Amino acid sequence: MRFQSQKIAWYFFAACMGLFVLQLIYGFILGFDRMGWEGLHEIIPFNVARATHTNLLVVWLLAGFMGAAYYIIPEEADREIWSPKLAWIQYFSLLAVGVVAIIGYHFNIWEGRKFLEIPRPLDYLVVVNVLAFLFNILMTIWKGKRMTTTAMVLFFGLLTAALLYLPGMWTFDNLVHDSYFRWWVVHLWVEGVWELIMGAILSFLLIKLTGVDREVIEKWLYIIVGFTFLSGILGTGHHYYFTGGPSYWLMIGGVFSALEPLAFLGMALYAIAMARRGGRKHPNRIALSWTIGCAVMSFVGAGALGFAHTLPQVNLWTHGTLVTAMHGHMAFWGAYCMLILALISYALPEMTGRKNYKGWMPEWAFWCSNIGMICMTGAFAVMGVAQVYLERKAGMDFLDVQEGLEVHAFALILAGALFTFGIVLFVKNFISYGLPSDEAMIANASEADATASDSGSTDAIDGAAAPQA
Ligand code: HEM
Ligand code: HEM
Ligand SMILES: [Fe+2]
Repeated sequence: MRFQSQKIAWYFFAACMGLFVLQLIYGFILGFDRMGWEGLHEIIPFNVARATHTNLLVVWLLAGFMGAAYYIIPEEADREIWSPKLAWIQYFSLLAVGVVAIIGYHFNIWEGRKFLEIPRPLDYLVVVNVLAFLFNILMTIWKGKRMTTTAMVLFFGLLTAALLYLPGMWTFDNLVHDSYFRWWVVHLWVEGVWELIMGAILSFLLIKLTGVDREVIEKWLYIIVGFTFLSGILGTGHHYYFTGGPSYWLMIGGVFSALEPLAFLGMALYAIAMARRGGRKHPNRIALSWTIGCAVMSFVGAGALGFAHTLPQVNLWTHGTLVTAMHGHMAFWGAYCMLILALISYALPEMTGRKNYKGWMPEWAFWCSNIGMICMTGAFAVMGVAQVYLERKAGMDFLDVQEGLEVHAFALILAGALFTFGIVLFVKNFISYGLPSDEAMIANASEADATASDSGSTDAIDGAAAPQA
């Protein structure tokens, strides 16, 4: 951390930790419901828990992206945030909107439509909030000393994510039209513009952690952005197979979405190649593990498991079953949750001056959460495939099948417990760092001024860093 105003990022990250833990609590309510233990049904029925679980995920990821921008943009633009005051207002209003929405769900105040449940008046507040955020970031870049590719890709990812929020606010009487535009938000976010945010944050982390030249790392960004748009935009068609639209989507969606894994493969190869090239010299090894882990797990969860059900011939059977949940968990985890955790792991020592990345706790946090998530994905896969065969091939009644799957939900709970243990360790480690401090900032700034020779720890030098042999 080199600027005073970057401290605001810590508060966004702290909000991520709190909301993430709450999300997991709702994950367990869902898991126990699926096991048939529905003690909370009268107060928190399955649909409410499900909407809360998924919306908390989206809110904490958005808070994470904002925190990431407030951390990264000042370093890239080489100046303080344009208006720290606006950032604070935006922070508290984002949390207020999130909390009101989540409480509202428990009183049936929502719009339905998975992922876009938030009621309309709150939508407008989100728009104002995000506009304030984007304006602040734009002004910081504009007034900054330099304009890097990483900062621009991050900004355009955030801007287009904001623009793509709007189609979810159009109202239609016709369900086919409604569904058509809902996917502009949901699909074009996770398989389009969020990938730009991911590419930019990965690029920032790789520059910092591997010491490879900025030019080399940023060149890859263009290729990834290209692949993402080439496949992801028309790939939206993989959600239009059975929604009542024209049948040409079967062909378009099938072909283009089948190409989508290439963008994730590109990111995985990119992260591994840069780490190998630069060596693992940076002392914060665990931040590099999260960075590479993110690129690899997103390829498995989004690329491979997305491909597993993206062809219309397969999706015909798996559509809307727990096979989707199998893919949804690992894709979100790998691509976006791990991305935020990677940045937090990198930023905390820089912000606080403490080196708590050493020792067993961060290592265990990484391995338990990842092994737990692999096992959770396995449990969902078993349930999903069984569901497809029993319900759709053998023609058993929907609810009979759900009852038959309850035993597998126990495995889900066990895997979820291992996962959650990892996350609890991560949060404990986060707390152990304490608050960001001015001393850390001053130390980092003087390190940067000294045109440091250590290529890893700060990239005030990245323009001048000697290319790796
Ligand atoms: C990080 C990127 C990704 C994330 C976070 C993600 C997440 C999700 C989620 C949460 C759903 C359920 C959405 C809903 O029903 O509202 C979904 C559906 C789907 N995803 Fe992904 N996904 C990603 C990438 C991909 C990729 C690259 C592919 C294809 C190669 C893919 C193929 C699919 C398909 C076919 C469905 C529809 C499943 C159904 O018919 O029920 N996804 N994804
Ligand atoms: C990082 C961690 C997690 C992420 C990113 C996540 C994400 C999601 C998403 C995107 C969905 C919607 C899936 C779909 O529409 O197909 C979902 C539903 C669900 N999640 Fe999670 N979740 C996480 C952790 C957990 C944990 C720890 C548990 C259980 C212990 C859990 C249990 C469930 C259940 C049972 C559902 C409902 C699936 C259904 O029946 O429709 N989740 N989660
Ligand atoms: Fe999609």
